[in-house]
Amino acid sequence: MPERTGPNAGDDAADRVERQVAEQIAPSPEFLARVAAVRSELVRRVEAAARARSSPLVRALVAGSAARGTFLTDRLDVDLFLLFPPDLSRDRLREEGLALGNAVLTHPETRYAEHPYLRGEFEGFRVDAVPGFAVTDPSAPLSAVDRTPFHQEYLARRETPDIVSQVRLAKQFFRALGVYGSEAKTEGLSGYLVELLILRFGSLRALLAAARTWRVPVRLAEPGAEPPRLPSDVALILADPVDPHRNVASALSRRNLSLVILGASAYLARPSAAWFEPRPRTALSRAGALEVVGTRASHVTVVLLPRPDLVDDTLYPQVRKAEHAIADEIARSGFEVLGSSSLVAADRVLVLVEVAHAERSAVRRQDGPPPGLDRVGNFLGKWTAPGAPILQGPYLRPDGSLGVETRRAERDVESVLRSALPRLALGKDLTPSDPHRAEVRPLAEVPDSPALADALGELLAKRLPWLDRS
Ligand code: UTP
Ligand code: MN
Repeated sequence: MPERTGPNAGDDAADRVERQVAEQIAPSPEFLARVAAVRSELVRRVEAAARARSSPLVRALVAGSAARGTFLTDRLDVDLFLLFPPDLSRDRLREEGLALGNAVLTHPETRYAEHPYLRGEFEGFRVDAVPGFAVTDPSAPLSAVDRTPFHQEYLARRETPDIVSQVRLAKQFFRALGVYGSEAKTEGLSGYLVELLILRFGSLRALLAAARTWRVPVRLAEPGAEPPRLPSDVALILADPVDPHRNVASALSRRNLSLVILGASAYLARPSAAWFEPRPRTALSRAGALEVVGTRASHVTVVLLPRPDLVDDTLYPQVRKAEHAIADEIARSGFEVLGSSSLVAADRVLVLVEVAHAERSAVRRQDGPPPGLDRVGNFLGKWTAPGAPILQGPYLRPDGSLGVETRRAERDVESVLRSALPRLALGKDLTPSDPHRAEVRPLAEVPDSPALADALGELLAKRLPWLDRS
């Protein structure tokens, strides 16, 4: 049978695939009923606990995907928001929030975002109990979570069962692509962003059909509304309908939006259920990586830093900053940088850089001034002094400027990096207080680990993820 081509080639297949996946990931009516019961029971119990300790709680509500049925069952968390008067001090907010969470959750564990919240269990469900302020204007929040009740109201009023089903399907698609989640570690799409996109386009298919022609940066303006003004490195701009100055997509990286754009057109051309199945990242053992490096005739150097005690959302931006600073320094020092990656392990942060050659040239060409400038005297004096480490020169270049060539003392990338590290801006908490705690080693001298294998996969086995799918 001849294959159909053109923009709608995959429509029938896509219908089939999407219907099948949507059905697979839909929670059963019984499960939805249990979630609903847990929601109201949670709120009832919190309110009772609040009365018992005369807490200033204004309101408790379950928001997030558990309140709307837009969750993926295998990663369901129940987001319980505890709202207090706006004039309560932050210390009391934390204290009261934790007390109420502790009163209703089992195995509670304090976690940290902008302020502490509790993660625990309730009747077998994972619950995040998050304190916030009961503000009346979502465009003037006092804490990062204060818009949430307004999000809940906005979405709940607009989502039909069909939209809810498409939101789950879209979350699953983005999850499989590795771009679901707005944590700093992922830099992907938040659940709320996916819901707004589906509301706007009506379905995953319509969203992908639009996305396939996007060019980063993308501005999705509400008709008649100005999108928020934002820094130029933002990938996607979509104003929060409850707070138009806030960009809902601020966490999404350019790389990840580009993956969505390219993935959209590849999926629409050849839709299949495999697009909805999360795959493990490509890992490469140290031995495998050394073989690849041999084939490429390149070299991988590794910087090992002590891991600071920070939450992921604070740590990952610093790790990326350190990775850039290190790779830039190596490039400026006369090496050809082919790529870099980084990883966070239990007690260390590692930055990997692949360079074309482990050693840079022994000869360093240094520029001098053109004749006629005052500086010429200094330049010539310095480089003609007895013992000056000159390999060639001083001489004149075809353009008339002076030059010299000197010998580099340090040639291997590890020595160069060791000297440079103490003056690099690695991120506030990554710069070790004792410079000796930063180590630089060639890959062959770094212990193998699953985390290293992930970072090596990212460094040496990069490939668009759908190309090798059957
Ligand atoms: P979640 O991250 O749990 O998202 O935040 P979600 O919508 O429930 O999606 P999944 O299915 O769990 O992945 C819960 C709610 O908290 C608000 C959003 O309204 C979101 O719907 N929120 C979250 C914020 O307002 N700001 C944030 O930084 C994070
Ligand atoms: Mn949630």
